[in-house]
Amino acid sequence: MVDFELTFMDFLLEHQEKHGRTYHFLILMNSILNAAKRIQHFYLTGALRGNLGLAGSTNVQGEKTMKLDQIANEVVKYYLSRSGRVIEAISEEEEKPILMNPSGRYFVYYDPLDGSANIPHNLPVGFLFGIAKRNLEGPEDNHLRAGEDYIAAGMFVIPTGTFTIALKDAGCWRFHIDETMNYVKPTRLELPANKKNWELSYNSAHRHYYNRPIKDWLEKNEKKYQFRYLGALAGDFHRLLTNGGLFLYPAIINHPDPAKNYPNGKLRLMYEAAVVSFICREAGGQAVDEKGQLILTIQPEHPHQRTALYLGSNELVAEISEVLNNLSF
Ligand code: AHG
Ligand code: MN
Ligand code: MN
Repeated sequence: MVDFELTFMDFLLEHQEKHGRTYHFLILMNSILNAAKRIQHFYLTGALRGNLGLAGSTNVQGEKTMKLDQIANEVVKYYLSRSGRVIEAISEEEEKPILMNPSGRYFVYYDPLDGSANIPHNLPVGFLFGIAKRNLEGPEDNHLRAGEDYIAAGMFVIPTGTFTIALKDAGCWRFHIDETMNYVKPTRLELPANKKNWELSYNSAHRHYYNRPIKDWLEKNEKKYQFRYLGALAGDFHRLLTNGGLFLYPAIINHPDPAKNYPNGKLRLMYEAAVVSFICREAGGQAVDEKGQLILTIQPEHPHQRTALYLGSNELVAEISEVLNNLSF
């Protein structure tokens, strides 16, 4: 008896056929999977090839970039462009939108390597992406789409080998890489209603500089939950999707070192916050910013715009939203 596992591409093919869709999205996703596998390969062989060190330059956010960030960016760009289906891409690593094929169908927003502080330790990182579709009738519209306009969003945890994808109004699914480098065994994910494993996930070192009511809420409520923090959104959110709870990256204000303040939050809207918020919604949860506004409804004005993020189980997001709604700006 031979066991055949359903691969992601088989799964997607079935999905597209069931909904009478074209194969363009399949071709795009094939390029994204190729990119993820190539990044996985570079990660696993990085130490041998001397790729784990700092590249000595800074990215558009002014942060130090490691060699693997740049390699991952080149890899994603190559495969997206080869697919012929992408009009324009926005990458964390490039200041300007990357023009690809003017007659392509999709916009792709990506963070090629999320959690790069984990690289020197060989701990997990991520590759995050969101996809929006062009207006097929009439002239091309805005390439800066709000999360609610995405048609899909996903994240790979590297080199763990998991792939989580949400398809608009069709749920959230997780796959695992096998020995043949295929992502297999779709499992549908829904945030658990059972609070047993609910967790809070945030960088506790910053709590003193949060808006006071957030700090107070944490102090009052944190003992009810587990506390978990890896420091890579992809990894932290991966775990939260299974356990339930709340991931927070609030605005940082009043830091004694002004350079460490993030009054608009640290995470980037288009290729970090909106990606995980889209996935979270398809898994039955939600996400808001510092004003309590749903992340998915925020219209980006800049490709690299930042936002605060409160993400996870509905009940906790609703609870924190009450605190946020009473903040004065
Ligand atoms: P990136 O490596 O793409 O710059 O992203 C890092 C982000 C995110 O992955 C993580 O949740 C967060 O930064 C961690 O920030 P702190 O180190 O401030 O906790
Ligand atoms: Mn990131
Ligand atoms: Mn990154």
